[in-house]
Amino acid sequence: MTLLFAAAGEDPDPWRRALAPLLPERDLAGAGWRVWPDLGDPAAVRDALVWKPPAGSLAGLPNLRAILNLGAGVDALAADETLPGVPVVRLIDPAMTAGMSEYVLYWVLHFHRHFHLYAERARAGKWGFVPQVDATERRVGILGLGELGGDAARKLAALDFDVAGWSRRPKTIDGVTSFHGGGGLDDLLARSDILVNLLPLTAATADILRAATLARLPQGACVINAARGAHLVEDDLLAALDSGHIAAAALDVFRAEPLPAGHPFWTHPRVFVTPHVASQTMVPTAAAVIADNIRRLDRGETPTGLVDRGSWT
Ligand code: OXD
Repeated sequence: MTLLFAAAGEDPDPWRRALAPLLPERDLAGAGWRVWPDLGDPAAVRDALVWKPPAGSLAGLPNLRAILNLGAGVDALAADETLPGVPVVRLIDPAMTAGMSEYVLYWVLHFHRHFHLYAERARAGKWGFVPQVDATERRVGILGLGELGGDAARKLAALDFDVAGWSRRPKTIDGVTSFHGGGGLDDLLARSDILVNLLPLTAATADILRAATLARLPQGACVINAARGAHLVEDDLLAALDSGHIAAAALDVFRAEPLPAGHPFWTHPRVFVTPHVASQTMVPTAAAVIADNIRRLDRGETPTGLVDRGSWT
């Protein structure tokens, strides 16, 4: 019974070392571990551990039981038309969720306290303050109230921000106003001084941050994108920044990654670029979640993070 590792750009060894003692019966230190494209006997592959596997790489595995993703986003899997029809499980690791909330809180606090403006002033040797509002008067809007968005929303609400969120289906989170559906999106945007995007990337959410939606934000709003580059029409954001309608943006994800040399985001004074690190997968905590899910599958139980494949387009 083989565990196949198919993760572009990931070193398989730390995963193997972390998983082998957690699943001793799978012989992951020996014949129970394979790294794509070295499949061994395709009929022996039971589960696949993947991150952006090459399209078609999981086809032709007759006994594949589940696809376990090494990240939260499953858009790369959804794009593979040859993906076997077995359960797909996203990684829901509390340590990664906490990491994402740290990223969101950092930038919300940054923009809320005008640190982007003070940095500009400091560079010009200017002393002087910008009027401050209370956190209760700062309206933060979160696109996506799933695992990641829900945690960020709760933590921002605990800091007294006026938090609202938008999701496909109605959600109830204490202290957070919840919007959903098409009309709900307009309402959320209209009340977001700081907009945070944590949506999954699907056909319905691609390009959701474009000229028309950015225009609905209040004048001087800030935008944080930590979801996927394809959510954002980059030229529309640049135009909104240059017109002053959007005051600043913190961007962790881009349509092309690495962000190409010479891209205007690198040098724009109001754009803060990080290289897709808002929340990184950490092998020790993630391996524990994956091993737990493999055991759940062995017992015939539902794994944590099971993806609804009907809703990923
Ligand atoms: C993820 C990511 O989806 O790192 O987990 O982008």
